[in-house]
Amino acid sequence: MKSKGLKIVTIGGGSSYTPELIEGFIKRFEELPVKEIWLVDIEEGKEKLDIVGNLAKRMVQKAGVPIDIHLTLDRRMALKDADFVTTQFRVGLLEARAKDERIPLKYGVLGQETNGPGGFFKALRTIPVILEICKEMEELCPDAWLINFTNPAGMITEAVIRNTNIKRVVGLCNVPIGMEMGAAKLLDVEHSRVRIDFAGLNHLVYGLDVFVDGISVKEKLIKLLSNPDKSVTMKNIHAMGWEPEFLKALNLFPCPYHAYYYKTREMVEKEIQASKEDGTRAEVVKKLEDALFELYKNPTLTEKPLQLEQRGGAYYSDAACRLIHSIYTDKKDIQPVNIKNDGAIKGIPHNSAVEISCIITKDGPKPIAVGELPVPVQGLIQSIKSFERITIEAAITGNYETALLALTINPLVGSDKIAKKILDEMLEAHKVYLPNFFNRENIILSS
Ligand code: G6P
Repeated sequence: MKSKGLKIVTIGGGSSYTPELIEGFIKRFEELPVKEIWLVDIEEGKEKLDIVGNLAKRMVQKAGVPIDIHLTLDRRMALKDADFVTTQFRVGLLEARAKDERIPLKYGVLGQETNGPGGFFKALRTIPVILEICKEMEELCPDAWLINFTNPAGMITEAVIRNTNIKRVVGLCNVPIGMEMGAAKLLDVEHSRVRIDFAGLNHLVYGLDVFVDGISVKEKLIKLLSNPDKSVTMKNIHAMGWEPEFLKALNLFPCPYHAYYYKTREMVEKEIQASKEDGTRAEVVKKLEDALFELYKNPTLTEKPLQLEQRGGAYYSDAACRLIHSIYTDKKDIQPVNIKNDGAIKGIPHNSAVEISCIITKDGPKPIAVGELPVPVQGLIQSIKSFERITIEAAITGNYETALLALTINPLVGSDKIAKKILDEMLEAHKVYLPNFFNRENIILSS
């Protein structure tokens, strides 16, 4: 790293989450000397970039830290000599997400941002873009760290691991920190005293054990979690209590997204009902986001507004700053991140991405190996990892049959006939963002 201060580049800089990222760098400035932050977006996001970028400038000015904030649509110029590149972009914006959520529901299948057909199509739209960004990084900032929290974060990180020369890539999610905060609340202790051993996949991670001051409290937590109105969830996931006997037998701390797999019927019914009432999550979030940008426009606003914590992705950006800080200072603390498996979880391919507790060093996260996962969860993890690997292949090749295969084997779809109907309708709905499917050249898939 350069001693003259770090260059941070954020692709998707016009995101409503950006103020949390800026706040994260401001509060760590003493130990993390960021000199410049480049917020990058595309033409369609220029207005949002200007609004949130000017707030970012007011935030650093108010804090009195000498960080230069640059706003640009020129990604290549921004990437030159970057030290850290964070990615937080949404191809097709919330309008595309609303289609991801609404169309599958017509067929009685879960419509959700990162799971089922919604997660599949978000991956199809996103993977070609992240691979382009990586090509530019290989040329313009080959030594930079890529910190990806573009969803579906695990799949996107794996696409980079297996299809680019970027060796310094880490995927991030806020679900683990959400689980820690939720556990701390239920146990009525300070969040800082809670530590969870995480292992699994992104948005499918399990707490293998839960500690308060180093003492396992998993049994106590599982009892608390069985109380119907005491569930740990995120702002974007309907809270439903777990059956006590199920949770006791599972003997693990499930993440909020497990509800889509262990409560599928109820969750699909809930989503169908919500889509008829307040709208799908993306439609609800669109209103939240518009209100946030109205707030951000206020020239007297000089800090991250609390309303941002209404978004499910709250604490994502702080997790990113915490990770960057630990890499930069070689802190060797433990953080849950998405990283190349390399045998840490037995049964998952070595070059696949897993979400796991890691020791964070200047050379990057070192996974704390868990070996075999408990038998009750091996099947779900394997089936989702198969789905993820075939999805990545479909995203790169643009091959229709591969896409149909991926959708059909997804445990939330489970019908080739319905998968085909959903695939045909959603390919058409997202056509403009799927060049690999609609103006195909010969795309060679790397190993
Ligand atoms: C969760 C997930 C994120 C996801 C977010 C959606 O926190 O961890 O990956 O993007 O919620 O939140 P939203 O407010 O957009 O529904």
